[in-house]
Amino acid sequence: MSGTTETGGQTFSPPEVIAAGANVGPEVYEEAAADRLAFWAKQAGRLSWDRQWDEVLDWSNPPFAKWFVGGKLNVAYNCVDRHVEAGHGDQVAYHWEGEPGDTRTITYAQLKDEVSQAANALTELGVNAGDRVAIYMPMIPETVISMLACARIGAVHMVVFGGFSADALASRLDDAGAVLVITADGGYRRGAASALKPAVDDAVSRSPGVRNVVVVKRTGEDVEWAEGRDLWWDDVVGRQSTEHTCEFFDAEHPLYIMYTSGTTAKPKGILHTSGGYLTQVSFTHWASFDLKPDTDVFWTAADVGWVTGHSYIVYGPLSNRATSVMYEGTPETPHRGRWWEIVQKYGVTILYTAPTVIRTFMKWGEDVPAGFDLSTLRVLGSVGEPINPEAWLWYHRHIGGGRCPIVDTWWQTETGGHMINPLPGVTSLVPGSAQVPFPGISAKVVDDEGNELSDDSTGLLVLTEPWPSMLRTIWGDDDRYVDTYWSRFGKNVYFAGDGAKKDADGNIWLLGRVDDVMNVSGHRISTTEVESSLVGHPTVAEAAVVGASDPTTGQGIVAFVILRGDAVDSGDELVQTLKTHVAKDIGPIAKPRQIMVVQELPKTRSGKIMRRLLRDIAENRELGDVTTLTDSSVMNLIKEKLPAAPSED
Ligand code: WTA
Repeated sequence: MSGTTETGGQTFSPPEVIAAGANVGPEVYEEAAADRLAFWAKQAGRLSWDRQWDEVLDWSNPPFAKWFVGGKLNVAYNCVDRHVEAGHGDQVAYHWEGEPGDTRTITYAQLKDEVSQAANALTELGVNAGDRVAIYMPMIPETVISMLACARIGAVHMVVFGGFSADALASRLDDAGAVLVITADGGYRRGAASALKPAVDDAVSRSPGVRNVVVVKRTGEDVEWAEGRDLWWDDVVGRQSTEHTCEFFDAEHPLYIMYTSGTTAKPKGILHTSGGYLTQVSFTHWASFDLKPDTDVFWTAADVGWVTGHSYIVYGPLSNRATSVMYEGTPETPHRGRWWEIVQKYGVTILYTAPTVIRTFMKWGEDVPAGFDLSTLRVLGSVGEPINPEAWLWYHRHIGGGRCPIVDTWWQTETGGHMINPLPGVTSLVPGSAQVPFPGISAKVVDDEGNELSDDSTGLLVLTEPWPSMLRTIWGDDDRYVDTYWSRFGKNVYFAGDGAKKDADGNIWLLGRVDDVMNVSGHRISTTEVESSLVGHPTVAEAAVVGASDPTTGQGIVAFVILRGDAVDSGDELVQTLKTHVAKDIGPIAKPRQIMVVQELPKTRSGKIMRRLLRDIAENRELGDVTTLTDSSVMNLIKEKLPAAPSED
């Protein structure tokens, strides 16, 4: 059934078959509104606690929250052991599919054994509760096992996306003070082995605090070996006992650090803790996707190296005893139907992915998915950036066969779990809007002074009450935590950094970042980080970076650089050199789509670079207001430098 909104767009009512048996119905909103803390306490009760909490929330020292104060639990026990103890040991936890086509099926009982072995190995290597362990891995089962082993012994994991460079890894190892790195010789991407160990060797050579490197053999390619420091996973983990008695930790015990880009060059180590985090990711996973542990096959097609992977490949699904699919490689390897082949093979019922991938599939054409049986799918999810209605409708029709609700989930690394999204059995869907705050979450759209805006006015998204899976701080930098998120509108209001508007029906429309953070293929990259990489190159005097809208990736990175006096502008060759430099410095995801060498940059009288104008140029738009420029001829100079058709590669 469908209707139309005031604006003429189509809406989609919850399908009868989902609404009738949904995990949560409309009453969940009233229940949460009546008593928010009691509501979250009830969801915490879905987990197994060794000691009950004394207080649901301690917000006496905002913005430093404590949830489930005095409670004790073990996150890994909740994700694995309790399901085995309840007689579900034979249930599949992961259908893992390697890119070359090799597979592994891991049951909850096997997962328990392997996590126990890995936990014993970490203890043998001297890792204690509270120590930081870096995980730099491809998408293989050992990545999840490593995370859970850390959680099991109370060590804090810090997963660094395998696409990040040695430099990026080194700075994170240093910032977190990691004592151990778990990695692999490499993984498979785009049909070839892609090495990881060389980057670890490089990074660890600069990180004296790292005592050991544990290496999973995945590709079998040769690796350099540091005797005494490096250990093969199969040796050190393989020989351990599968018995491990877990300890219980405080609800506020740190679980993990995940680095994310902010508005300065230095990435922020977002800290998540145990009880509140698991409560919210578990409940949102169960409610947002209507997860049925006995029958669903759940697939988050993302990398574990991002928060989406942490919350919705690992902690959410496992805490709910889901059977998940985990896929190592890229969607076009060895052919463009690989994902749909996987859906068909495992009978995937719930698929969660990003709009950028959907737009890529649109480009490849609907004939590709049409060649596979996708009839098992019943709920679809979207995350990472606003999903444009065209992509929404395509996803709905060509992947969901017109019958699957699409759950567009707005959240962030900082929020830990879903914050604004429809519920599949409850909400009438409006393509393009993430719609309403999740039950128990308070979100508003405000103006620059923090006043709530009337309908349809564009403003800033804020969260007005603390939530269980909120970040607790920025690792080692409480001041930056307060400054970044809780200073603009006071210590009780979280500033999300996203523009938004609310329509007359109460639906929230997310409008992208309002700070200097770009969103490229759903990945956050800071303009400053790319700029500082560029000026780190000997030929560059000054750099300005903007995110220009891109039909596939959401935004593309466009850089404007001024060369040093003595530098030779070798044209394409220099541009290539600079692109490679950034890719090496930060990682291939940060490689600019386009670099333009210019004589001047447009600046305000106070010397601030006018990114808006640069964005107009990068998007080939007519120039906006230039009256605040120190020298408006600058723009002409820049324009002269514009190639007729911007070159891309
Ligand atoms: C954007 C990813 C609109 C937003 C989970 C946010 C979205 C940033 C959506 C967080 C969505 C994520 N609709 N925008 N459904 N999901 N965003 O930390 O700008 O990698 O602030 O977390 O992505 O990105 P992060």
